[in-house]
Amino acid sequence: MESFVVQGGKRLEGSLRVDGAKNAALPILAACVLTGDDVLLRGMPDITDVRRMIDILRMLGCRVIHQGHDITVSARDIGCCEMPDALSKQIRSSIFMLGPILSRFRRATVTYPGGCEIGLRPIDLHLSGLRALGVVIAEEGGVIHCDGRQMHAGEVHFDYPSVGATENVMMAAACLPGTTTIHNAAREPEIVDLQGFINALGGRVRGAGCATITIEGVDALHGADWTPMPDRIVAGTLLAAAAITGGQIELTNAPTSDMTAINAKLREMDCDVREEGSRILLSAPERLTAFPVLQTQPHPGFPTDMQVQMLALLSVAEGTGVIVENVFENRFTHAGDLNRMGARILCSGRTAIVRGVDTLYGARVTARDLRGGAALVLAGLRAQGETIIDHAALVDRGYEAFERQLSQLGADIRRIKANT
Ligand code: EPZ
Repeated sequence: MESFVVQGGKRLEGSLRVDGAKNAALPILAACVLTGDDVLLRGMPDITDVRRMIDILRMLGCRVIHQGHDITVSARDIGCCEMPDALSKQIRSSIFMLGPILSRFRRATVTYPGGCEIGLRPIDLHLSGLRALGVVIAEEGGVIHCDGRQMHAGEVHFDYPSVGATENVMMAAACLPGTTTIHNAAREPEIVDLQGFINALGGRVRGAGCATITIEGVDALHGADWTPMPDRIVAGTLLAAAAITGGQIELTNAPTSDMTAINAKLREMDCDVREEGSRILLSAPERLTAFPVLQTQPHPGFPTDMQVQMLALLSVAEGTGVIVENVFENRFTHAGDLNRMGARILCSGRTAIVRGVDTLYGARVTARDLRGGAALVLAGLRAQGETIIDHAALVDRGYEAFERQLSQLGADIRRIKANT
C-alpha cells in the first residue's frame, strides 16, 4: 500500500497546466467501440481509471496503443459483447460500455457494477433509458442480459438527470435509424465533450449542455483525432489546495467557463479569483471566511465531486458553514478523519455543520474514495506537523501524480510504500 506523507505549513505558489478530464476521457474511450476505424485520443489523463478502461477495451478485443497521454483505439476486431466481471467491479463507469456494445452487436452482457464508498450507485436509469430504445433486459444473479435486436430510436425521459445514463443513451442511439430525444438529460460539460466526440466520428448529436438532447442516427461512424476537455475537478482541487494554504497560483488550460460555481464559492471565502480565458489566477487570504451554505447539485449547480475538498477548506475558515450533499447519499465519510486532525464537523444525514478552527494537526488518516483522499491531502497541507494519508492508490484513480503536481507548487509531499 502506498501513502502520501505531507509536512504542512507551506504556502502554494506557482503555475500548473490542467490535464484532460477523467469524466470526459472515460465515456470517450467507451465510445471508441462505436466505430471500426482507428481513433486517436491526445491529452488523455494518465490515471488508473483510464488504464482500467483500456483493460476492458482490450478484453473485448480492441487494439489499444497507450503512450503517455496519447491513446490509439481500434475496435475493428472487437468480438466480445460480454463485459468481464472482475473489471466491471473495478470501475463503476464500465456500465456505460453498454450503449456502445449494443450499438455494435445489438446484444450485451454486463454484471452489476456494484456500489462504492459514496453511495449505492444504482443503474435503474441506465436500464430504463435503454428499454425506451427497445432493448429487452433480463437480470439474473447480478448479471444483466441485454437483447437489442429490436432496438429503435425513441423518446427517453430521465426522472433524474443522470450523467452516466445520459451518456449511455447518447452512445446507444448514435447509429439507430431515426431521431432519439433525451428529456431531463444531465447537463455536465463532459456530456458536451462526448457530443463533440461522437460528432467528430460523424454522428449527429445536438443539445448537450441543455436538458433536451437529440441524436439523429447515422449509418456508420468513422475514426477521429480528439483531445478531451480539461478536468474541472482537478482544476478546482488545485485551486482549493492554494486556498487552504493562503497561497497564490495560476492554472493554465483550465475549463474556466465550466467552473463558475467553484470559483464563485472560492470568492465567497474571500479568495481573489481572476479568469483570463483559460487562465485562472487565485490569491488566497491567510484565513478563509466561511460561506453560510453550500448545496451540491447537478450541473450547473455546485459539483458534488468538489464537495469534500470544500469541507476541508471550511474546516479552517473563520466562522461556521453548512454543506448539504444532494447528489450522493454517503459523501461525508472523511469528516471523521478531518475531525481527528482537529476539525469540528457535525454530520447528520446529508448535512454537515462545520465550525472553522484556525489550526489542524497532522495525523495518520485513510482515503476511502478518490475525492475524499484528495481532500485529506489538502487538510495535510494546512495542518501543523506531519500527516500520512493511506491508500494513495485511490487518489491515483483521478489525479495524475498528485504529489508531483503539488510539489511543483511548493508543497512538502512525498509518496511512500507503507508496510502496514
Ligand atoms: C458521474 O457519475 C461521475 N463519474 C461522478 O464522478 C460524478 O460524481 C457524478 O457523475 C455526478 O456528477 C463519471 O463520469 C465517470 P449520476 P455517475 O448517474 O454517472 C443516482 C468522480 O469522483 N443514480 O449522475 O454515476 C446516483 O445514485 C466521480 O469523478 C440513480 O439513482 O453519476 C446518484 O445519487 C464520483 N440511478 C445520482 O443519481 C441511476 O441509474 C447521480 O448519479 C444512475 C444514477
